[in-house]
Amino acid sequence: MTNPTCFLHSPLDMHIHFREGDMLRRVAPLSARTFAGGVIMPNLVPPVDDFGRLERYAAEVRTAVAGHAFEPYMTLFMRPYTEKELASMKDRIIGVKLYPEGVTTHSDTGVGNLRDVEDTLASMEEMGIRLMVHGETSDFVLDRERAFLPVYEDLAARFPRLDIVMEHITTLEAAALLDRHENLYATVTLQHLLITLDDVAGGLLNPHLFCKPIAKRPEDRDALLARALEAHPKLAFGSDSAPHPVDRKECAGCAAGVFTAPVALQMLVGLFEENGALDQLQAFVSDNAQRIYGVAPPEKTVVFEKTGAVIPERYGDVIPMYPGRKLDWTVADVH
Ligand code: DOR
Ligand code: ZN
Repeated sequence: MTNPTCFLHSPLDMHIHFREGDMLRRVAPLSARTFAGGVIMPNLVPPVDDFGRLERYAAEVRTAVAGHAFEPYMTLFMRPYTEKELASMKDRIIGVKLYPEGVTTHSDTGVGNLRDVEDTLASMEEMGIRLMVHGETSDFVLDRERAFLPVYEDLAARFPRLDIVMEHITTLEAAALLDRHENLYATVTLQHLLITLDDVAGGLLNPHLFCKPIAKRPEDRDALLARALEAHPKLAFGSDSAPHPVDRKECAGCAAGVFTAPVALQMLVGLFEENGALDQLQAFVSDNAQRIYGVAPPEKTVVFEKTGAVIPERYGDVIPMYPGRKLDWTVADVH
């Protein structure tokens, strides 16, 4: 008897942190092996926020994924931009990512006051440049996303032709906004479909599951999972895979980020199979994103087989989500 198999065509990861230098060279090929493209986040130090840095970073990313059919969709870090600047970079980016000041890794030069970028948002709306947002305030940690939702609603109403992506949503209420505003879309990570705050801090503290926004309550996780399993047409997979060296995770002052890139697809196949929704996975990991973002990624077919494997303990000095855990599905072929 042969093992069950499953196929995905040109899977996309619409939110990834590749970093730079050695880390980029280590992690980018792990995404590029199975994904056909991905949205590369701009929160470097200094951030990707001018033409020169965008060009240099795009070139560095392309070198790191050379040999793979993988299209990097680059982003700019939000600051006040002139129309001329936006015009020069428009064709090289998939959107501009807004980080409120200080809410997450390398966001200290983020936007302190939204009024500072009003003109930029108006230009983006005119020019058809997408806005991507890390939607958190600095309120109590479990309330940060909910407290930001009025900002999404205000932006969606005031800039009705601006496409706005709520990145890595973690709450039931954020998911509900998808059906209230035509120009609001969202990405969701793997970890937020699987875990709650209990998994991070309910027992022994697990730094490898600590990320921003932090995982929330069971009802939040369940609402997100339901939207993913039905492949809600305004929702796309974005892993937010965010590698940090082990000494920045297993320490006091642990950095935020869960590293899922090399195992995300295999785990998604398992999760959708368990929930009887394998027929929706293609839409969730590729077709929705192709439609929402208007992209046509390289052709790539990933074949999964139910042969079982174990998640590696490490990739160099980076520890993935669930090291050592058994995986039902493995990647048997990519062509
Ligand atoms: O957990 C996170 N890690 N959330 C973010 O928003 C940024 C990311 C990172 O860059 O490490
Ligand atoms: Zn991120």
